[in-house]
Amino acid sequence: MKAIASASVLASSLVLTLSPVAQVGAQQAPIVIKFSHVVTSDTPKGRAAELFKKLAEQRTNGRVRIEVYPNSTLFKDKEELEALQLGSVQMLAPSFSKFGPMGINQFEAFDLPYLFESYDDLHKVTRGPVGAAMLRLLRDHGIVGLAFWDNGFKDFTDNKPLRTPADFRGQKIRIQSSKVLDAQMRALGAIPQVMAFSEVYQALQTGVVDGFENTPSNIYTQKVHEVQKYMTLSDHGYIGYVVIANAKFWDSLPSDLRGILAQSIAEASDFADEIAKKENDDAIAAIRKKGRTEIIELTAEERRSLKQALLPVHHQLEGRVGRDLLQSIYAATGRLAAESAAPPAVVR
Ligand code: SIN
Repeated sequence: MKAIASASVLASSLVLTLSPVAQVGAQQAPIVIKFSHVVTSDTPKGRAAELFKKLAEQRTNGRVRIEVYPNSTLFKDKEELEALQLGSVQMLAPSFSKFGPMGINQFEAFDLPYLFESYDDLHKVTRGPVGAAMLRLLRDHGIVGLAFWDNGFKDFTDNKPLRTPADFRGQKIRIQSSKVLDAQMRALGAIPQVMAFSEVYQALQTGVVDGFENTPSNIYTQKVHEVQKYMTLSDHGYIGYVVIANAKFWDSLPSDLRGILAQSIAEASDFADEIAKKENDDAIAAIRKKGRTEIIELTAEERRSLKQALLPVHHQLEGRVGRDLLQSIYAATGRLAAESAAPPAVVR
């Protein structure tokens, strides 16, 4: 009896004293990457994250396991960035607007109204040297910027029709945590309310806020059309993403794995950019079909009045996002966004 007891004590002490490397040696425990995000799996970001998981897991032959947590199931927007810096998650793809509260204000430049008039404009920045320089900024914050993923152009929803600046007066509208978006809403006379994305549906349903601005794919997949009577196709701004990793974790990966992951991200980025426009077009069609939300198409005059009210936000916020950066974005797109000409509708 005594002998058996000592043998089992010896066996368990052996297990305890084996080095972690020796313990995983036999089973090749995979490196786990937690990838958290706040939208559903059937959005451009959700689908790109799933493709990244599939490619990375296949190509690393089980050496890496990617756990994707969609729809704020692991962390909400603000928490997820803190979690990344603490190492509780390894990868995220937050929207540009979420970086301001961390003191990285430059990404809020993408929130400026009417900065881009098409995906082509946008790609001149995100796929060019300006975008690459922006990704490098993240290193100082313990973050590696890996890629940009497209979503799309924003529309407004509300329980009253929003066509001209006068319609926005006094409306409480949910925004992401961005000073640029705060200024944008104030320029329209609306009352901006910062709120986590996961709380939007309930806040609209209970009347805590009156309205919302987002891409059609996010509006549809968060079921906002169930609780909002009107959706204005304004295309007044853009939402896209920066795919990021915890720098310490990324740098600690064996270089062959890092290469495979980077290649998988690049392919998932192409996929996101390929599907984003169609996903958003399909979402508008789906909202229309549900028949609960009236879709408002603006006249040229209504577009002009919104643009005229919103363009001064560029000048007002250039100190926050960086004057040089803003000028280099204007130069890359070849458009002086401060021009006051009537805005053409974004080509859908
Ligand atoms: C997202 O698309 O990741 C969320 C955007 C938002 O918070 O409005």
